[in-house]
Amino acid sequence: MTFQHRTVAVLGAGTMGSGIATVTARAGHSTLLYDLDEGRVKQGLDQVGAFLDRSVNLGKLSAEDAATAKAGLRGTTDLRDLTATDVVIEAVFEDLAVKKDLFTQLDDIVSEHTLFHTNTSTLSVTAIAAGSRRPERVVGTHYCNPAPLMKLVEVANGRHTADWAHDASLEFLASASKTTIVTKDRPGFILNRFLIPWENSCINALESGLGTVKSIDTAVKGALGHPMGPFELLDIVGLDIHRQVAMRLYEQLRDPRFFPPPMVDRMIAAGDLGRKTGAGFYTYDDNRLFGS
Ligand SMILES: NC(=O)c1ccc[n+]([C@@H]2O[C@H](COP(=O)([O-])OP(=O)(O)OC[C@H]3O[C@@H](n4cnc5c(N)ncnc54)[C@H](O)[C@@H]3O)[C@@H](O)[C@H]2O)c1
Repeated sequence: MTFQHRTVAVLGAGTMGSGIATVTARAGHSTLLYDLDEGRVKQGLDQVGAFLDRSVNLGKLSAEDAATAKAGLRGTTDLRDLTATDVVIEAVFEDLAVKKDLFTQLDDIVSEHTLFHTNTSTLSVTAIAAGSRRPERVVGTHYCNPAPLMKLVEVANGRHTADWAHDASLEFLASASKTTIVTKDRPGFILNRFLIPWENSCINALESGLGTVKSIDTAVKGALGHPMGPFELLDIVGLDIHRQVAMRLYEQLRDPRFFPPPMVDRMIAAGDLGRKTGAGFYTYDDNRLFGS
């Protein structure tokens, strides 16, 4: 199977789903964005469109390629629209029962040749794939947030993933200009094993008054060469998602470095979740879920 101009369905139109739909649409794949919530679908499509427009304005994408990407992009709240899909990329809530149930529903809808990707941060690919009658076709693909800007995707096979499905997934991700690393189906894969404790230590440094949001971000960008500081990144990820991922990894690994600092709870209680609520460590007056 070669991966050019394929039909892709992205399930879940939240932060990751709309980011991943941007990636696949920009790569020339016909992209269907699905969510249970019609408002989320509309918001997700708007996010993709706005990102493509900004890319044109910044000279990173031709107007023609942006127009092609937009022409191939559609939204739906009806799973039955997925019948002719080559690749399904699941990015719904981080909830095993929800993800498994979606894979079970897909069994009776999509064709026999469909490849399934699941975008989980903390759950087992094997456990998610157990919801499908075709676990050999299910591959874990952990995109980095913001998906349109970050090149890396971690790829992890479930216990029953077939070698050809793994290889085809690497090929598909290459078609979308992604760099892949192969890892194991273990909690946090590679990246979140060090990213979550590091983000927690940056929040602890802030909470103990060692620096300000701005000075810590400046230090990380200036000294380590990161394109974003930890607080800019956490505002994109969402404090609620950070807490959930941190707690889930803490529960599985029993390592106190994963335990979210108290400041995270206070920010969540105040509704300051990051970009998606207009305020987190910074405040925002645009509606962007991810940067340019
Ligand atoms: N946010 C991150 O930084 C990040 C990074 C990598 C991976 N992930 C993973 O990506 C997945 C999505 O995370 P997110 O941050 O985009 O979450 P989100 O809450 O922003 O979006 C989830 C979307 O899924 C939709 N949804 C829930 N149940 C559904 C169902 N049964 N059918 C269709 N749509 C449904 C919701 O309406 C919502 O729009 C999670 O598994 C998360 O762990 C997140």
